[in-house]
Amino acid sequence: MPRKPDNQTTQQHALLATTYFLHLVGVAAVLYSNPNYWKQPLHTSALSGQAWVNELIHGHPDRIFMALGMRLHVFTAFCANLTLLGGVTISRHGVTVEEQAAIFLYTCVTGLSIRHVAERFQRSNETISKYFQIVLNAVSTGAFYNTYVHLPSADEPISDYIHHNPKFYPFFKNILGAIDGTHINSFTTAANRHASRDRKGGISQNCLAVCGFDFRFLYFISGFEGSVADATMYMHSRLMDFMIPHGKAYLADAGFALCDTLLTPYRSVRYHLAEWGRAGIRPANPQELFNLRHAQARNIIERIFGVLKKRWDILNRPPQFSMDIQAKIPPALAAVHNFIMEIDSSDIYNYWEDLENFGQDSSVNTGQRGEGAIPRAERERATEVRDRIALDMWKSYQEFLEAHPEVLLEDFDPEHEHLVGLENLE
Ligand SMILES: *[C@@H]1O[C@H](CO)[C@@H](O)[C@H](O)[C@H]1NC(C)=O
Ligand SMILES: *[C@@H]1O[C@H](CO)[C@@H](O)[C@H](O)[C@H]1NC(C)=O
Repeated sequence: MPRKPDNQTTQQHALLATTYFLHLVGVAAVLYSNPNYWKQPLHTSALSGQAWVNELIHGHPDRIFMALGMRLHVFTAFCANLTLLGGVTISRHGVTVEEQAAIFLYTCVTGLSIRHVAERFQRSNETISKYFQIVLNAVSTGAFYNTYVHLPSADEPISDYIHHNPKFYPFFKNILGAIDGTHINSFTTAANRHASRDRKGGISQNCLAVCGFDFRFLYFISGFEGSVADATMYMHSRLMDFMIPHGKAYLADAGFALCDTLLTPYRSVRYHLAEWGRAGIRPANPQELFNLRHAQARNIIERIFGVLKKRWDILNRPPQFSMDIQAKIPPALAAVHNFIMEIDSSDIYNYWEDLENFGQDSSVNTGQRGEGAIPRAERERATEVRDRIALDMWKSYQEFLEAHPEVLLEDFDPEHEHLVGLENLE
């Protein structure tokens, strides 16, 4: 058995500890009073930023994906295209394109502040800030952005997602994708705080995005004040550069107004997907069926926002940049998202589990409509188109049920119903 320490050894220990502590204080005091302590170089780690990037490139494939949000082959192509399309080259001080790209991507993936990224890369605040902005500008404007984020042309073939799903085809054959607004947390000075406050009271910028059924962004506009309504952003975009080919339209929630170019759900009719799932009920009329199908197809936009905010944590943690820099970040990351999809469309499966859940929350706008009056003739025309689609859907649904009475017997889960439909149609 260990001997119980007697009083004397306890005292000795205490004395030793005190001496040691005083010694530390002494060393610290000497260091602090020595001017060289403060003057020694700050970034002296053996692992420089470039060395870390080299480690990521040559290390386990998961490391680069975790740190930079993309696989190695995507990163290599990204750097090459940064030079090709964005004009990014090795700097006068020898900062390589790879390190510049890594500074930008790491900042966006982690949402860390500049000084924390500076420690990671062993560079000064100024250097980090400079290269973050160089890459940000290279991807959020000009050739890079326009190559990867662009609107579909009038003769764009119907997407497979619609074409191969009997719930959507042929009813949505003229639908190019979905549109919605999303709030991005932002950092703002006290003076601007009032206007940027969103409806929930947080500080945010509002963005309007359009995506196709292939999980890519088609259009992205950012930097609206948090309190601006989705429909207002839409009106603004139409006046600027958001062109929709004649006869084509996008799916939008009830925060937008029904018109030739936006197909919205019926109001005051069950709409939310989760609502259907919970209730386990079958659509009872053409309007309800239309709203269910609409919600299922429109869900793509909730999911793409989900992937974007999951990959880039900077969108959840407001960065302390000026507002004009912050406004460039969401469209830049939308362009990088499209770039990743271009090189590696299976990348989306990294988020598959999360995808199941995105868009099931109650963020869908079913309530008030923003400003922007639609001319009466157009409203009537659009209402007719919607009624036609709803009736066609209803008719084919009834035919389907007649041909497959077994569906009626099973527990109804509207989310999985299309699987039954697909099996039986093949
Ligand atoms: C640039 O990106 C395209 C995809 O848009 C890719 O096919 C190409 O290989 C990239 N360029 C280089 C030099 O890697
Ligand atoms: C970097 O910025 C932070 C504040 O943002 C500051 O505390 C720190 O001293 C700066 N570091 C350098 C090396 O300038």
